[in-house]
Amino acid sequence: MDAISVIRAKRDGGRLTDAQIDWIIDAYTRGEVAHEQMSALAMAIYLNGMDRAEIARWTAAMIASGERMDFSSLPRVTTDKHSTGGVGDKITLPLAPLVAACGAAVPQLSGRGLGHTGGTLDKLESIPGWRAALSNDEMLGVLADVGSVICAAGDGLAPADKKLYALRDVTGTVESIPLIASSIMSKKIAEGTGSLVLDVKVGSGAFMKDIEAARELASTMVGLGTDHGVRTVALLTDMSTPLGLTAGNALEVREAVEVLAGGGPADVVELTVALAREMLTAAGLPDADPARALADGSAMDHWRRMILAQGGDPDAELPVAREQHVVNASVDGVLTTLDAYAVGVAAWRLGAGRARRDDPVQAGAGVELHAKPGDRITAGQPLLTLHTDTPEKFGYALEALNGGVLIAPADTRFEPQPVVLDRIG
Ligand code: URA
Repeated sequence: MDAISVIRAKRDGGRLTDAQIDWIIDAYTRGEVAHEQMSALAMAIYLNGMDRAEIARWTAAMIASGERMDFSSLPRVTTDKHSTGGVGDKITLPLAPLVAACGAAVPQLSGRGLGHTGGTLDKLESIPGWRAALSNDEMLGVLADVGSVICAAGDGLAPADKKLYALRDVTGTVESIPLIASSIMSKKIAEGTGSLVLDVKVGSGAFMKDIEAARELASTMVGLGTDHGVRTVALLTDMSTPLGLTAGNALEVREAVEVLAGGGPADVVELTVALAREMLTAAGLPDADPARALADGSAMDHWRRMILAQGGDPDAELPVAREQHVVNASVDGVLTTLDAYAVGVAAWRLGAGRARRDDPVQAGAGVELHAKPGDRITAGQPLLTLHTDTPEKFGYALEALNGGVLIAPADTRFEPQPVVLDRIG
């Protein structure tokens, strides 16, 4: 077998055989296939796609490239959530301890932000002392003691995906349904969760801009999970505007803690509870009541224990950016657009995100929203506050927001988007 014949087969619109897929994933993981050859194949897959059987084999080969975790010794059933990524998506933070408070175990292996979407680990690292890197034994210990753990995936889990994802990120081949579905599901299946709820984002701030593409991605991932014995369902959720009122690391942790304290923005609470219900039902605990666990403080109790168990101080002051800039409304009216992508890029440019994998992020940077689409606006009222330690970035952030915030005349009819658009599985 050789890489060139595999690349040619996909370049010419053919389907890859099981043997070709197994060989190329294994050879690439071992460093025998060069990055430029894998980039060419990724582009051929991006352009010509893969059928469901090819995607299934590609996923299985990526799982087989590394170790599989095993939670069968835990006394609780495991369930997990994965979001395809968005702006202001801090849902994992309240969700994991909430589901643990309802009786399931949540092994949440999370990632860092890249580009305009935030990453769960970057958010949690704004809590003084908190550690993302845990050994497998430490992770199992926190899971057994607290019921939820949020940490970085170890290097041994789907190493083929680690290499391939980094390559796709710099070769314009991220937005491909076969490559996204196999990337996400190989990690989740290797992680060993019993059930999985996928939050597939749709809209300007998501990989999938339209609902039909998101449906196709969701049903591909649900099929992969089910074939591997993982009960999998997907919610398609709105990402045309940011979730909640914050985009940025410490800003989002603060908002997540508000939700755990029984408050917080309505859309964040609604999505947290909807995903918790799906996770608990998939885990065989349909009678658990996540809304009550938020109201009675048990979810907050689990959050505090989870943060402490990973070295963090749940009572510590969170970092605040050195400089703020308030954007005021210039006219009266109704806010019709607060674009997720524009806000995500603004937060990124202010220092909340990174352009390269090893860039540092600013804990306090980001965008705070003072209004949501549908709100009545009075000229002069604050719409957004930009936060950064590097005030020379304000101009770039304002440029990103240009055209992303629209106020229409007050008599304009505004149709709000539901938070949950569809369910698959
Ligand atoms: N998240 C992943 O883990 N992989 C992708 O390809 C896209 C989002």
